[in-house]
Amino acid sequence: MNLAELQSFYDFKDCTVLVTGGAGVLGSEIACALVGCNANVVILDRDLELAKTVIERFPTAVKGRAVRVYGDVLNTETLQQANETIKAEFNVVDILINAAGGNHPSATTSADLSFFDLPLDALRHVGDLNLLGTILPCQVFGRGMAERGEGVILNVSSMNALRPLTRIPAYSAAKAAVTNFTQWLAIHMAQNYSPRIRVNAIAPGFFLTEQNRFLLTDKSSGDLTPRGQSILTHTPMNRFGTPEDLLGATMWLISPAAAFVTGAVIPIDGGFSAFSGV
Ligand SMILES: NC(=O)c1ccc[n+]([C@@H]2O[C@H](COP(=O)([O-])OP(=O)(O)OC[C@H]3O[C@@H](n4cnc5c(N)ncnc54)[C@H](OP(=O)(O)O)[C@@H]3O)[C@@H](O)[C@H]2O)c1
Repeated sequence: MNLAELQSFYDFKDCTVLVTGGAGVLGSEIACALVGCNANVVILDRDLELAKTVIERFPTAVKGRAVRVYGDVLNTETLQQANETIKAEFNVVDILINAAGGNHPSATTSADLSFFDLPLDALRHVGDLNLLGTILPCQVFGRGMAERGEGVILNVSSMNALRPLTRIPAYSAAKAAVTNFTQWLAIHMAQNYSPRIRVNAIAPGFFLTEQNRFLLTDKSSGDLTPRGQSILTHTPMNRFGTPEDLLGATMWLISPAAAFVTGAVIPIDGGFSAFSGV
């Protein structure tokens, strides 16, 4: 074994990483860690003001290696424009992390909204955001990887993908599709373009962020809802994840340390998916 090589795996110098949804809670934590590991980081999001606040969190010395760029993961044209901007700034995207996604209250059943009444536009939005919002960036930024014969894609699936959670049918189905697509694209890239293009996913358990706060905590008191409590009961580590909990598996999967890993979906869930409940 070459120990020096092993120790260099998490140095992403001269490597450009694009994080979609990079202004969000989980995406921004990943972006911060990547800048700290010497990567050039592109934060792609619809909300450029929020993306600016993420970049302001970085130490001054590394700010030149972090840029924000407008992009809607459901609009190929904006992604292509973003690609041109990135080319001028950093040349190519070496690593794509698809962190844009999430659920929405209007696609969530409740005492006031039955499954039968979930509006079509809400179902379509959540389904599209998570599945097409992963596929379209893979098309736009994966094309360059296919041409160069190397690259890394990391998708963000969820616990919903393994077994659906109650109340959120579109989100559960879409994340199951993200897991399936991750495996499909891993094989497609390796067999048709290059075995040096890897595609994997992380499957986070429960992290308290803006997209699920309304489900897990009571808006006025901040206390756990029965659903939030039930999640903790089914998480052997008995806590929600923190954004930093994602970093180890993320860095490993995108680094040369995972050179023989493709098509994998790694749970980061405090044991939730392993627990039978008994
Ligand atoms: N939090 C959890 O417990 C958990 C668990 C499993 C998986 N995940 C997944 O982890 C990923 C990150 O979630 P998060 O919790 O960090 O949520 P978040 O804070 O809401 O971050 C998502 C980001 O994506 C952006 N976004 C939404 N639609 C977009 C679009 N069409 N184009 C570009 N950007 C868009 C959002 O911007 P806007 O503010 O403009 O919408 C936001 O900045 C998602 O895929 C989510 O499904 C989260």
